[in-house]
Amino acid sequence: MKKLAGKVALVSGSGRGIGQAIALKLAEEGASIVINDLDKAPADETLMKINKLGAQAAVCVGDVTEAGFGEQFVKTAMENFGALDIIINNAGYPWDSVIQKMSDEQFQAMLDVHTVAPFRILRAAAGPIRELAKKEKAEGQAVYRKVVNVSSIAGLYGNAGQMAYAAGKASMVGMTRTLAKEWGRYNVNVNCVAFGLIETRMTQALDGAAVTANIGENEIKMGIRPEMIQAMNQMIPLGRGGTPEEAAGAVYLLCTPESNYISGQILLASGGLIM
Ligand SMILES: NC(=O)c1ccc[n+]([C@@H]2O[C@H](COP(=O)([O-])OP(=O)(O)OC[C@H]3O[C@@H](n4cnc5c(N)ncnc54)[C@H](O)[C@@H]3O)[C@@H](O)[C@H]2O)c1
Repeated sequence: MKKLAGKVALVSGSGRGIGQAIALKLAEEGASIVINDLDKAPADETLMKINKLGAQAAVCVGDVTEAGFGEQFVKTAMENFGALDIIINNAGYPWDSVIQKMSDEQFQAMLDVHTVAPFRILRAAAGPIRELAKKEKAEGQAVYRKVVNVSSIAGLYGNAGQMAYAAGKASMVGMTRTLAKEWGRYNVNVNCVAFGLIETRMTQALDGAAVTANIGENEIKMGIRPEMIQAMNQMIPLGRGGTPEEAAGAVYLLCTPESNYISGQILLASGGLIM
């Protein structure tokens, strides 16, 4: 029997990178997935990969920062699968500058995507989760649900050039610990995984031309200078960045029945790096 058979999971930003790896891992373990990304093409790529695994998925394309997105995300799960068991707040990106060059727009964008959007998704899920939990309690069942918020070591320890990103990611810690206290009565485990260096387009080595990603109307620079990656690898006890699959493994651990008594925790998946 697969560990997550019959479970339904929302995974934001699951068209690429860590989010896609999480969606595939949960699907491989039997969950049905609601995929989300900004654009249809990456979301459809994940859908195709999940279907290849013989698992089920539905797509909810959209910007997590749009008003009403949270309700749409939750509705997609309820309409397609009639359940909601796992919520992974993964969508995000860094928009970096040193403080004197950081605009209000930049700072606000980081709070919108890493703080406000996860809050709204979780608020939209509150109604269905409470109703399902009450029904299960009345029937004498104990069903555990899972929330995993994706943070960063920058949110825990700070990182030069990332004031806005760090602020957004740090807020996930407070939200995780608060919601763990609010939703314990509904048997929801609310945890957070803070990643170190994970190899995705966000952290790819910048050799020559800059790599950018279109986020709404903004073109955001992605990637890290190779000498910086080398320096980080030297600081990481395991000596290297992690793969998206290894990152997904950390999130998956907090979605399994073995984590039913773990809540309000921040798990570092950083190859041992603490800054
Ligand atoms: N890669 C790392 O080293 C690292 C380290 C710490 C934390 N993280 C966090 O992990 C998460 C995933 O990052 P990744 O490395 O896989 O990056 P990625 O760029 O490979 O993937 C992120 C995905 O999220 C989507 N996305 C971004 N903004 C969105 C929005 N507003 N609405 C919907 N989708 C949106 C992107 O289109 C993209 O497909 C992010 O929250 C990131 O901050 C990554």
